[in-house]
Amino acid sequence: MALHIEKIATSKISEVDFSNLKFGQVFTDHMFECDFENGAWQTPKIRPYQALSIDPSAKVFHYGQAVFEGMKAYKDDNDEIWLFRPEQNQERINKSAERLDMPAFPKEYFMEGLNTLLKMDSEWVKKGENNALYIRPFVIATENCVSASSSTNYKFMIICSPVQGYYAGEVKVVFADKYSRAANGGVGFAKAAGNYAASFYPAKLAANDGYQQIVWTDASTHEYLEEAGTMNVFFRINDTLYTAPTSDRILDGVTRKSIIELAKSEDINVEVRKISVKEIVEAAKKGELLEMFGTGTAVVISPISAFSNKGENFDLPKLENSYAALLKKKMTDIQRNLSEDKFGWRVKV
Ligand code: COI
Repeated sequence: MALHIEKIATSKISEVDFSNLKFGQVFTDHMFECDFENGAWQTPKIRPYQALSIDPSAKVFHYGQAVFEGMKAYKDDNDEIWLFRPEQNQERINKSAERLDMPAFPKEYFMEGLNTLLKMDSEWVKKGENNALYIRPFVIATENCVSASSSTNYKFMIICSPVQGYYAGEVKVVFADKYSRAANGGVGFAKAAGNYAASFYPAKLAANDGYQQIVWTDASTHEYLEEAGTMNVFFRINDTLYTAPTSDRILDGVTRKSIIELAKSEDINVEVRKISVKEIVEAAKKGELLEMFGTGTAVVISPISAFSNKGENFDLPKLENSYAALLKKKMTDIQRNLSEDKFGWRVKV
């Protein structure tokens, strides 16, 4: 694969305070970029990270034809860099793109572009259990035309951001009973930019009440719990873990599916089935709801300390030996090359 490379003259890495990073605010020295024009992906390039020049009529600005991914790279004590199940993200961005009528991005371009970019910006991947490099591949519609139809031109990019945690403190959630994130036949399963934009207003209302996230419910009845937008959600009732099945409304999270496999391999009983608000509220009242946690690339595994349903607040117990802590340790040890990877998930850059 031909790849044009233009390196930065001077790295900006010395200006970055790696001990005090806000999620997704600092970006590495280079970016990967490839344009779709005349019906084909053109020669990809890596060039210094910089602002883009895009015509104001580009369709992404008007119709939100855009999809993205989230991945992480980790550095081990031997300075080797590891990705976690990157083929899952490569496949998923193309599934998202198909639903938004965007062209698939070739696997070879994705993998080679990503690996070359990570090697060029390897100094930005810091060691240590709280550090990772967040990787954001995305595709936007770039045709200069405001007619409401699929674009003829696109831009695929990968940018990278050194990160630590996503949530600064504890995570409290509210169960949705008015707004909805996704509907049957819609784009909920896709990492479509608009899914996130549509959640910001209800999320702001929730934040005003002290909740960091909304657990979305099914749009028609608000009776079943689905996902939280930045994360899939797991519930522990007694010793069983429950999570909702994926559907055309729920993102098929890479962390979610890995946690299901890991939990099973730890002999934890996992049930993937519809979960009603009613049963979670009842379990909480009986003291049987022992844990709730979110899973996602950005959030890793984030324990949820409380939830609110129709104005009623429920605090979750603080467990010594939580499933969330056990599974987080097992998964991050695999991701960071600290343990054997019997699943074959870890991929060296
Ligand atoms: C991720 O976990 O990578 C996500 O895409 C969630 C989010 C930061 C929007």
